[in-house]
Amino acid sequence: MKILVTGGTGYIGSHTVVELQKQGHKVVIVDNLSNSHRDVLHQIEKISGVKPDFEELDLVDIAKTGDFFNRNRDISGIIHFAAFKAVGESVADPLMYYRNNLFSLVNILQNMKDKGIKNLVFSSSCTVYGQPDKLPVAEDAPVQMAMSPYGNTKQISEEVIQDTAKVTDINAVMLRYFNPIGAHESALIGELPLGVPNNLVPFITQTAIGIRKQLSVFGEDYNTPDGTAIRDYIHVVDLAKAHVIAIDRMIEENQKKKVEIFNLGTGNGFSVLEVIKSFEKVSGEKLNYKIVERRPGDVEQVFADTRFANDELGWKAQKSLDEMMLSAWNWEKELMLKTKN
Ligand code: UD1
Repeated sequence: MKILVTGGTGYIGSHTVVELQKQGHKVVIVDNLSNSHRDVLHQIEKISGVKPDFEELDLVDIAKTGDFFNRNRDISGIIHFAAFKAVGESVADPLMYYRNNLFSLVNILQNMKDKGIKNLVFSSSCTVYGQPDKLPVAEDAPVQMAMSPYGNTKQISEEVIQDTAKVTDINAVMLRYFNPIGAHESALIGELPLGVPNNLVPFITQTAIGIRKQLSVFGEDYNTPDGTAIRDYIHVVDLAKAHVIAIDRMIEENQKKKVEIFNLGTGNGFSVLEVIKSFEKVSGEKLNYKIVERRPGDVEQVFADTRFANDELGWKAQKSLDEMMLSAWNWEKELMLKTKN
């Protein structure tokens, strides 16, 4: 089965390509390389033994996207990752986010409709829940007003997919990720943040390796056991595996509804300080950090009710926090070696 992975040279995309190939799928990647490198294709090949087909393409471009689909008539499913994802940047330039994240989705759906491609896995986020009233948060929890244009693009995208699925043959699985971290055990692929990372784990590893001076812990006055905010961190390979199950479920026509939504998390919440402790334990490094003010827009705590994904997909995240932090650290060290050579 040939699967199109948009954003397949990116962080979650590249790990998903490897898992798809492992399960015998043929993969074609499209990516505009705005936040990833062509070299990732070689790294994928080193892991799986197969170089995925690749096309550099901006999915916002209607003509080029149409042309791509005309030339690739044998696609059985699409996993759509390609999107901008920096919260702060989206606040500064909302139009860039709405244009990129929404126009590309509309173009993909139009081509799916025109060419009879039925199966779409969409990369959504737990950000749609805001601060949920009930924890762990289940898929039927209300979607709350988005805190940023980035978050809003995820909410609007979900609605665009729902509306389109109602009146076409298109089926979708929307996966709401909690906090993906870590890297492939080979340390050949991982997260490549451009500039100063916004996310906690790359900031921790970059601080420990000496790229950043100090980590700021955003707030210790939350209503949590140690006062720092709580998230559900999930290993990127566990996350990638769920995508393969989701696309197979659609191809094998095992869906119970035209559009299904699943939470992808471990179900366990960890505080920022617990993440730091885990990192220090597995790396043997002492982390330089200080407590600062809360970061505007952050929620206090969120972690997933994973029962629906566990039962329906037969999928469960396997990796512990320590394993996640160790893989993130090994990746950071590998990157450092690469830059030195
Ligand atoms: C963020 C986005 C979320 C997006 C996800 C994509 C916000 C409000 N949310 O999730 O919408 O889907 O990234 O990757 O930006 N922290 C520190 N110091 C740091 C960085 C983070 O203390 O330097 C804390 C944060 O306050 C938070 C936790 O670490 O409590 C995780 O932060 P982060 O990795 O940025 O993820 P989210 O904010 O949960």
